[in-house]
Amino acid sequence: MPVTVPHFDTAFFRSALGRFATGVTVVTAETADKQPVGLTVSSFNSVSLEPPLILWSLSKSSSSLPHIQASQGYVVHVLSAAQVKLARRFAYGSQTDRFTDQPLSRTPGGLLMLADECSAWFACRHYAQHDAGDHVVLIGAVEDCARTANLPLIYHAGDFDLTPNNLPLSQA
Ligand SMILES: Cc1cc2nc3c(=O)[nH]c(=O)nc-3n(C[C@H](O)[C@H](O)[C@H](O)COP(=O)(O)O)c2cc1C
Repeated sequence: MPVTVPHFDTAFFRSALGRFATGVTVVTAETADKQPVGLTVSSFNSVSLEPPLILWSLSKSSSSLPHIQASQGYVVHVLSAAQVKLARRFAYGSQTDRFTDQPLSRTPGGLLMLADECSAWFACRHYAQHDAGDHVVLIGAVEDCARTANLPLIYHAGDFDLTPNNLPLSQA
């Protein structure tokens, strides 16, 4: 149901949301003509253990949206603290630049993924999609996942956490 609050300060709302620290992921998929698409996403979260489900939200203004909706599935890569450059590239670079010189791989189920070692990854088939304001909430059924001992990248207050205990500044 649409909700309009005329007095609502969107900038303040966004800033308050920024107090919630998140991890950072890159979601990749394949277009119908087998081109890679992907973007940086922090709205990832767990949903269910049985069956294994995750969620994330995708802006309706995202160029990736139609491709991801039409795809066979997608891979959510949980970035490590050493992967802030990847996070920036997949948020601010063009789709073509994001995949230039980017090593790619396949999940056991055949979904396209980044070859880089992340903190964890989740290979998902589409389970459900929900219209939600200016975003679409995607729920994924996890068919494969993996994890490493790499510390995760943290994002809050509109920026990446590059403090020394999380990431050596030399890697920022
Ligand atoms: C840390 C971070 C988290 C982000 N999280 C999301 C997200 O959860 N959903 C989303 O739609 N965009 C998110 N974005 C923005 C997209 O990564 C960015 O707009 C990207 O350019 C979209 O690419 P596209 O339009 O080619 O799909 C995030 C950006 C950053 C830097």
